[in-house]
Amino acid sequence: MKKRIAIFASGSGSNAQKIMEHFKRSDLAEVVLVLTNNPDAYVLQRADNFEIPTHVFDKKEFYKSDSVLQLLKKLEVDLLVLAGFLWLVPEYLLQAYPNQIINIHPALLPAYGGKGMYGDRVHQAILDNKEEESGITIHFVNERFDEGEHIYQAKFKIEPTDTLETIKFKGQQLEHQHFPRVIETILKKIQ
Ligand code: GAR
Repeated sequence: MKKRIAIFASGSGSNAQKIMEHFKRSDLAEVVLVLTNNPDAYVLQRADNFEIPTHVFDKKEFYKSDSVLQLLKKLEVDLLVLAGFLWLVPEYLLQAYPNQIINIHPALLPAYGGKGMYGDRVHQAILDNKEEESGITIHFVNERFDEGEHIYQAKFKIEPTDTLETIKFKGQQLEHQHFPRVIETILKKIQ
């Protein structure tokens, strides 16, 4: 039986797009649900294009009820993939999916991680500190922002001519290249 993936995203969902594309043709797994806290997130449109069901939740539903867990259980989801999802994952989900929740972060953690470090803020901080390299980190999720065990990192060089836009682009290229592939390796280890 194919493994079943749920994607959590808060924004554009370009990584979600790559994951949906990748697993559309896969014998190993399929994306069965896209969840978001943001009713205006473009990821909802992307999911519709793949005819993948979506679910929008608010803070109260996510943190004060178990309806998201019930939905994931009903759909027999095996792996939760955070792709630009900006809320902390509640304890009840961590307990229900041990080592089955992964996140991608646009920096070489543990540098440039933690609460409030997401998207352009990360790239701007890296630029401000005149770093010579940056990269991406794919990691397991725990109860703190960006602190779970690392699964994979990839790096790129920062040139003196780089700007926020070019750094963001280089990071995104690495994310799109590696995230679906790393998800596959994780799925193969799940019973
Ligand atoms: C990605 O770059 C991801 O690494 C980052 O949000 C972006 C989402 O882009 N995540 C974080 O910063 C988490 N702390 P996308 O919506 O185009 O996939």
